[in-house]
Amino acid sequence: MSVSRSVKWGDLLGMRKIETVEQMPEEYKNTLIKVIYALASTEFASVEQHQPWINQGPTSEDRYIQAQIAADEAHQGFIDSRLLRSFGPEGEEKAANLLKLRMGEHLLSAFNVPFESWVDVCGFCFALDLVAWYHLRAMENCSYAPLAREMTTMVGEERFHASFGARRIHDIVRDPEYARLCGATKSDAQKTVDKWYPQALDTFGAADSKFSTMAVAYGIRRWGNEELRQMYKADIDAQIKAIGLEVPDPQKGRKIV
Ligand SMILES: [Fe+2]
Ligand SMILES: [Fe+2]
Repeated sequence: MSVSRSVKWGDLLGMRKIETVEQMPEEYKNTLIKVIYALASTEFASVEQHQPWINQGPTSEDRYIQAQIAADEAHQGFIDSRLLRSFGPEGEEKAANLLKLRMGEHLLSAFNVPFESWVDVCGFCFALDLVAWYHLRAMENCSYAPLAREMTTMVGEERFHASFGARRIHDIVRDPEYARLCGATKSDAQKTVDKWYPQALDTFGAADSKFSTMAVAYGIRRWGNEELRQMYKADIDAQIKAIGLEVPDPQKGRKIV
């Protein structure tokens, strides 16, 4: 998607996009820092989750893709940190702090959970990288031009991670040779979908959120928390069913509603 010069939705509709922190009203700035920090908090956390699995995949392609995913997440962490630092001392402190956090300390629950098996690695990519793709798509062509420009590469990276996960969960269920290489069965695929599904739905945040409404009004995000969660849910539910697995109860295991 190309990046427009003017704001495409919300209260600033039709205005020239914001290019620098100096141009931002205080509330816009605070909302944007929160959005970028939440995104940034997932990137190095995700590298930490993937790192032990880079050389564990059952095929050479799996090993290459794991290394690529870890590299992409580190790339996104680097970009997000650079954006955070552009906010001055407050952002610099946030960016520096992210480098110190380890599993168990990350902002979003899904990124504090280790991968237990190769099937679980695939389940995470299937469910959570698709979440990431929806979150990034919501910021495509957003009102902060430097962020909008970064989305042109990051959206494609997440699409790649999510489609890898979807393909491998499909293969574990439908391709006996791949299932044998993984030493896994259909019930293992169902187990990992059940594990990540509530985590994935929770990442969209509270349905009733002033912050989410403001992010949409300022043109930073295209859709609010609940709308984005429902878009994601319709997509992943259809994919789970097409593979031949059961869609988990959307209320079960949820912490954020
Ligand atoms: Fe990411
Ligand atoms: Fe990803």
